[in-house]
Amino acid sequence: MGKKILVIGACGQIGTELTMRLRELYGNDAVIAGDIREGSEELMASGPFEIMDAMDGNQVEDICLHYEIEEVYLMAAMLSATGEKYPDKAWKLNMNSLFNVLDLGKEKKIDKIFWPSSIAVFGPTTPQENTPQHTVMEPTTVYGISKQTGERWCQYYHDKYGVDVRSIRYPGLISWKTLPGGGTTDYAVDIFHKAAAGENYECFLKDDTQLPMMYMEDAIRATVEIMEAPAEAVKERSSYNLSGMSFTPAQIANAIKVHKPAFEVSYQPDYRQAIADSWPGSINDDAARKDWQWQPQFELETMVAEMLKHLS
Ligand code: SER
Repeated sequence: MGKKILVIGACGQIGTELTMRLRELYGNDAVIAGDIREGSEELMASGPFEIMDAMDGNQVEDICLHYEIEEVYLMAAMLSATGEKYPDKAWKLNMNSLFNVLDLGKEKKIDKIFWPSSIAVFGPTTPQENTPQHTVMEPTTVYGISKQTGERWCQYYHDKYGVDVRSIRYPGLISWKTLPGGGTTDYAVDIFHKAAAGENYECFLKDDTQLPMMYMEDAIRATVEIMEAPAEAVKERSSYNLSGMSFTPAQIANAIKVHKPAFEVSYQPDYRQAIADSWPGSINDDAARKDWQWQPQFELETMVAEMLKHLS
């Protein structure tokens, strides 16, 4: 029998595609999907599912012991934009869920953990272009503070208790299967739904706001690759910078216009502009490339073509 895996937050934007990929790789029954709500038909029909609350430590432990789980992917979180509306809830969800899983690692009840961090760990004092792996981090959002704190705890549990926890600082993720929920980079997904429906789009960021982004296929592959890497190759036990592409709303709009010439975008920046302004425009991921041979595949043009193909 192969290893058993639990994905917590399996019905979210990343969780849905990650669960399906892990089921392809390790077998449907080997990958338990867990979430506070039910997910897509494909996900629900393809393997075991448990309704669970990532903040309930006893429930997380019971499910891990019941299924003899070896690896946990903790994808449940409240993202940057929603987190600013519910700071207390965001902090509790993002931190308590992490401790629940890290403690199972410390008690040797599970062997390996994946926990995503984000470009939101960076802030206005961080070098904005080609942001290094190790640099100034003064995040201004609750989400960013929770991810930065989480990174320190991951490092701590690894160094003090030997917990095999692995992490990536995801950029904004773009996918056609599941909608994102409550992030600042969500515009880069919303824009495709409008374009594919033949409608125009009103963007909540300014036209020249450059952010690091990635196509979901690359992000899922990075996640599987860092988890498959030998433990000694994973040298950063806080989290790895990861880079795919960087673009502004104007640049993605132009790339869409190549396929949909009538498509128009107007700009109506809201509170999310300040969040975007505090984040880097591009990321240096030399450490991931060197330590576990990370290599992105999708650029703006190839990503746009794929998105429109699937959504149209
Ligand atoms: N996509 C996330 C957000 O916008 C960043 O990790 O909140």
